[in-house]
Amino acid sequence: MIGAARGVLLRGFELIERPFDRLFGPALNPLAQLGALGFFFFWIVTVSGIYLFIFFNTGIERAYESVENLTNAYWFHAGVMRSLHRYASDLMVVMVMVHLLREFAYDHYRGKRWFSWLIGLPIIWLLYTSGITGYWLVWDKLAYYVALTSSELLDYLPIFGEPIARNFISTGTLTSRFFTLMVFMHIAVPLFLLFIMWVHIIRISRPKVNPPRMLAALSLIALVAVSIWKPALSQGHVDLAKAPVEIGLDWFFLPLYPLTDLWGKGSVWAFLGGFSIMVGLMPWLPPLRRASAAAVDLAHCNGCERCVDDCPYEAIRMVRRTDDLPFPTEAKVNPALCVSCGICVGACPSSTPFRRTQNLKTGIDLPDYSLAELRERTVAAAQALTGPARVLVLACEHGGGAAHPGAVPLPCVAMAPPSLIDYVLSKRLADGVVVAGCAERACFNRLGVAWTEQRFARQRDPYLRTRVPRDRIATLWTSILELSRFKKELGLFAAKLATLPPAQAISPPPPKATLDAAARHEPSLIENSSQPP
Ligand code: HEM
Ligand code: SF4
Ligand code: SF4
Repeated sequence: MIGAARGVLLRGFELIERPFDRLFGPALNPLAQLGALGFFFFWIVTVSGIYLFIFFNTGIERAYESVENLTNAYWFHAGVMRSLHRYASDLMVVMVMVHLLREFAYDHYRGKRWFSWLIGLPIIWLLYTSGITGYWLVWDKLAYYVALTSSELLDYLPIFGEPIARNFISTGTLTSRFFTLMVFMHIAVPLFLLFIMWVHIIRISRPKVNPPRMLAALSLIALVAVSIWKPALSQGHVDLAKAPVEIGLDWFFLPLYPLTDLWGKGSVWAFLGGFSIMVGLMPWLPPLRRASAAAVDLAHCNGCERCVDDCPYEAIRMVRRTDDLPFPTEAKVNPALCVSCGICVGACPSSTPFRRTQNLKTGIDLPDYSLAELRERTVAAAQALTGPARVLVLACEHGGGAAHPGAVPLPCVAMAPPSLIDYVLSKRLADGVVVAGCAERACFNRLGVAWTEQRFARQRDPYLRTRVPRDRIATLWTSILELSRFKKELGLFAAKLATLPPAQAISPPPPKATLDAAARHEPSLIENSSQPP
């Protein structure tokens, strides 16, 4: 059932994301930048909150007047800041919920990736607590309603010795200290939230925490425009003698409040508990099949750090050398973090299929799908090709090419070192090579598409050699649901290939006996900018 729900959601996201891709381009697609936008809105809330605090009177008697004053007397700066503070907080809620659904839809939360998901749970609780305590501070009718309902909800739990709702029953019993506690919480909880947001991404390398400038600028302009057009206002001074009746609700932060009356407090808590337990258990419903973590072969590791640089999950670090090879460091994989994407295999300088050894070895490899097996499968797939334009497809198992008959499957496109394409074309195993991955905005392994593009553009080691004819290579970034686009583009590429003059034979690179050469750090084995094309 969970799989079916994921499928439906994925279709929904694809439906919205594809037109966005065309409109903004994959890099600016807001749905691919939800986490970064979350951080951006957080900073807007923080800056506007600090600004408001200058004008805010933290005493319960003067709080309402001070908020009214900033809306009316200084609307053009403090008033706009108040609206920015409210609307950016609302957008954070939207972003968090859509981000949660999207990570679920794209299956980014199971297996070794459970950590970010689970840390998302306290984020939701802290975000709501921040917003709810914020509404309290305005001390208008809505604040009274929020205060009263929150207290009733809390009183339902056996936490406090004395019911806290009593604080609000009449002016006589209302304590200013309680209000000061809310002011403190409204500052302390977001600070803690920021800390948890940082923990949320510690297992991810190069997390996108800043949206592209254009997207940030557009979001800010839109927020300022809405703040001027529809400023955030208070709802009349609180009257503790009267229970609040007609009030406008913030449906982003307070959707459960009316349900307290409708369902009863117990049901609201049951809903919140059930939601939290379900979200908390999701990474194991059902658990992901465990593939073995990448393994380092010290005899072939020269400590170049490329694998550390390319791993999207912070699963590799360099440690002091443990053998007698003359390098100061060696790569070490943390199996608890490794998702077996193989990107490190594609990054390692010793991952070269040109090695004329039967038992192809490399510095870092996947025990369940080694570079040797990848070479074997590539050769077998190429040998099965027929027709005027023999196109070999190297396909990520999460992208649109996965279902293509005869494709060589990869856990991520970036597992294939660029030298594998050189190998196929220089040995004339195929007339062209298609590297097929996920849609650019939604690479299953976060950085696989980006690294592949940079390697091909010779901006990132290991470079694709200049001698490799670029008109015989195509990259197709399509999602698993874009099969017809994949087929169409593949057909166009094959048709273009058929019009090209016969491929020139490329002289094979000089034989490199290799294994030891890697260990000796011979530049010839390391495809980088210093290498002849
Ligand atoms: C303030 C709220 C949040 C912010 C600012 C935030 C931010 C981020 C960022 C920046 C990333 C890294 C994206 C990338 O570069 O690939 C990320 C990933 C992720 N987030 Fe959030 N997030 C928030 C809330 C949540 C919540 C509530 C959940 C779910 C319960 C969640 C689940 C995830 C997951 C599963 C990943 C992907 C980890 C992976 O790819 O291995 N996040 N988030
Ligand atoms: S297989 Fe992927 S996750 Fe594991 S160490 Fe290599 S790059 Fe990192
Ligand atoms: S040689 Fe390979 S395994 Fe060793 S540090 Fe470099 S990329 Fe990593």
